[in-house]
Amino acid sequence: MTLRKELLAALASTAMVVAIASCGVPDPHSGGTPSLKPNSNNPPATTPTNDPDPTMNPTTNPPPDTTPPPDTNPAPVANDFSISTSQASATAAVGGSATFMISSVVVSGNPESIVLSVSGLPAKLTASLNPATIAAGQNATLTIAVSADAPAGTATFTVKGASPSVEHSTSASLTVTTNMPPPPPPPPPPMNCALADQAKMLFTTGVQPIVSPTTMCGNGICHGGQGSPQPQFISMTRPYETLTSYALVVGTFDKNTAPILTKIAGGTHFAMVYTPAQVTTIGTWLDAEKTARAMCTTTTSTIPTPGQVLDLTVGKWSGCMEQTTFDQNGVATAVAGLVSTQGPCIRCHEQGAYDMEASDDSTRTFNALTQNAPLLKVWFAFDVTNLNAPKVTVNDALFIKVTTGQPPFIEHPLATWQGSQAQTKLKAFFTATQAKMNATPNTCGASKIISPP
Ligand code: HEC
Repeated sequence: MTLRKELLAALASTAMVVAIASCGVPDPHSGGTPSLKPNSNNPPATTPTNDPDPTMNPTTNPPPDTTPPPDTNPAPVANDFSISTSQASATAAVGGSATFMISSVVVSGNPESIVLSVSGLPAKLTASLNPATIAAGQNATLTIAVSADAPAGTATFTVKGASPSVEHSTSASLTVTTNMPPPPPPPPPPMNCALADQAKMLFTTGVQPIVSPTTMCGNGICHGGQGSPQPQFISMTRPYETLTSYALVVGTFDKNTAPILTKIAGGTHFAMVYTPAQVTTIGTWLDAEKTARAMCTTTTSTIPTPGQVLDLTVGKWSGCMEQTTFDQNGVATAVAGLVSTQGPCIRCHEQGAYDMEASDDSTRTFNALTQNAPLLKVWFAFDVTNLNAPKVTVNDALFIKVTTGQPPFIEHPLATWQGSQAQTKLKAFFTATQAKMNATPNTCGASKIISPP
């Protein structure tokens, strides 16, 4: 397989060199002639490029003279040449240009001087030849400049070479593409905002009829639909979303600078003018749009997520926890010493082992809980079901689950949490902390949480 691929590749590249050589370009390796690259726009077989036979063009060429009539007194050899373009077609964006190499070859006789000319190009496409006169056998460069307001489409043109003895032509085509970027995605419609609804309504009832597909901007051919000039802001299906997604049309919704108004002012855009009433209608809509976009987005983005509320609540709680209260209640020792079927809790959970803090060092335990959110969330439960009223409780549910061996803690040592010293002391500390959290003025400190935030 690989060998076959390589062989094909080698054959292909050989074919390329042959094709380039037959274009009459002196050095295929000199670079700088991008138009010679293999190119889908350059169909190989049907182009005049690879055709050194000038007789292919029946309109301008005399019949073949390769078989001289049976004349006992042959005429002297005529001076003749052929011309061809480096490629049959090229593509250029509006505002850009395309380059063709024009090659000439002496077919018979002596090289004469050839005057080149280009015909058949539509308006907005300008040809320049360098040089415009060559000796047969030499090449020239044809550059076609495409003006910024040229329409998209394909133009076929003819390059003529005229020597004192004979004239030959070849033709090629240029496809003009519009190179505007695709429109940015429509901005998210502001949610539940009366101002936005009102702005859209002003567009639909007032502005859309002015710029609709059948009136000014659409006009059947402009700014909407396949192949129409960019920006294509006229849409039958989503008129509002499409038009407002083009900064080229609406700018920043400022009526003093928005192109939808400024472009038409002064009659320089295809001599179009709005009536004063239309200017007012569009201006009023732009004002409404500008206000809606400023007001509606900020109000929706300030609602925090449950995750943010949880982090905030955990942080607040840690800030309200007080070490003196924790020490006085002897919480650390009580939890560490709670006896299970396999020894006290401290036996396995000292210094946060197995994600649970149980140490008889009160300071250590207090710091571990208040600085480490996952450890704090084992001792206390944080419920943010109601984002406006988050709840904190002693995590009795988890302690009971673990100490009674419920799934997934089926192999956990058993103990009695309900009514234990540990539960009672933790509860006392919890009540004190909760009181502090709810007190006004609030005397809690800042969050002590270090990891993770
Ligand atoms: C013999 C060792 C051992 C003892 C003693 C022990 N545990 Fe555990 N504990 C574990 C292990 C291992 C885990 C982790 C996973 C499991 O059991 O599924 C755990 C998990 C836990 C968890 C869950 C932590 C989390 O990530 O949610 C809690 C709460 C817990 N233990 C509390 C206690 C309490 C309270 C005591 C004392 C009554 C105790 N444990 C005694 C070994 C022990």
